[in-house]
Amino acid sequence: MRNFDYKKNDLYCESVAIKDIAKKVGTPFYVYSYKSFTDSYTELAKAFKSIKPLICYSTKANSNIAVLTALVKKGSGLDIVSGGELYRALKAGVKPNKIVYAGVGKTDEEIKFAIQKGILLFNVESAAEVVAINRVATKLKKKASISIRVNPDVSANTHDYITTGKKESKFGIDMDTARALFLDKNRYPYVNMCGIHVHIGSQITTGEPFVRAFRKVMIFVTNLENQGIKIKFLNLGGGLGITYDNEKPQTAAEYASKILPLIKSKKFKVIFEPGRFIAGNAGAFVTQVLYTKKTEAKNFIIVDGAMNDLIRPSLYEAYHDVKPVMKNIKLKSIKSDIVGPICETGDFFAKDRRVPDFQDKDLLAIMSAGAYGFTMASNYNTRPRVCEVMVKGNQFEVIRKRETIEDLVRGEKIPSFLK
Ligand code: LLP
Repeated sequence: MRNFDYKKNDLYCESVAIKDIAKKVGTPFYVYSYKSFTDSYTELAKAFKSIKPLICYSTKANSNIAVLTALVKKGSGLDIVSGGELYRALKAGVKPNKIVYAGVGKTDEEIKFAIQKGILLFNVESAAEVVAINRVATKLKKKASISIRVNPDVSANTHDYITTGKKESKFGIDMDTARALFLDKNRYPYVNMCGIHVHIGSQITTGEPFVRAFRKVMIFVTNLENQGIKIKFLNLGGGLGITYDNEKPQTAAEYASKILPLIKSKKFKVIFEPGRFIAGNAGAFVTQVLYTKKTEAKNFIIVDGAMNDLIRPSLYEAYHDVKPVMKNIKLKSIKSDIVGPICETGDFFAKDRRVPDFQDKDLLAIMSAGAYGFTMASNYNTRPRVCEVMVKGNQFEVIRKRETIEDLVRGEKIPSFLK
């Protein structure tokens, strides 16, 4: 993981020792490298510079306003999926005409908010949504531009829960229905149907599923054009995989070399929506050992972080590397489960993993936690969400305060009939 390296025995994020952050903010916490986010963004932009795409970083991967701001300042647009994400995006200073809005269930309120702010495109996932957008836009007397998200019915060779381009999935519109919508577009006078969107899933490490999907999409677009429909935007989604363990994912340049030949004959404005590629290896989750426990069957390392803070291992059995924040060469390695304090057997970060024989108070870094880490955190077991820290060079700052118990019970109330 670039920008997370040892100097002597201490793990650093850029030029800051992670143990120093722990001293200042306590544990657990997320730590992010500014340089990792921005370098990955730049790497993708460079790989596709011949077509000058609009890269809309996928907010859901890591939506801290500081992270969004760092990317927006580099020129990134944003992919959003809710009114909440739109609010954050605007707080981060992104120009509304660099925002694209996906999701199968947008409410009238959310649609209204997005039209009023003047976002670039809605990525529309059903015929009913076209009707809803047209209805809200008519009321506002403001036209809304949309892309139709097509479901190409391809498998993405990734975890079932993050596959989105199969016909059984709730996402997108099958090509026949999508074609009918385009041919019928004059029925929606306040909708400007001008783009195609496709996103087949996440953590895709090879080019092949993308190529299969985009080939189908290009045939679809050519057919539409032959029927007199003009397509201005082609949004190819996100999905680029990263290294968690020993995967060797395609680089941005390799991806570009596969994709560019498929699309170069057309003059579309191409949009990408990378999330994990930009954020995944830009962050680690740091947690401290509370106790160790050796049973007849297993060794357990019990830490102060838990599945509510980082749910990926529990939810997808995802692998995250575990590194000592301070290497102690005296420790032998043993096979252990690294578990949190939550009352669930599924509350683990690693299972039967060879790790140093960590002792009480040792700090552990759960790596590759920059994407879908904090954004999927919850308050289960009334655990305050942890703080987030961003490092840039030798500086670091808290970019989200640790929640307090008071934060968690705010808004709760004992009803009068119980008093
Ligand atoms: N565009 C759309 C429409 C999406 O639904 C997503 C992710 C992205 C872009 C960004 O995909 P990425 O480049 O990050 O693969 N929580 C799961 C991942 C869920 C992905 C949801 N959609 C995980 O932790 O693996």
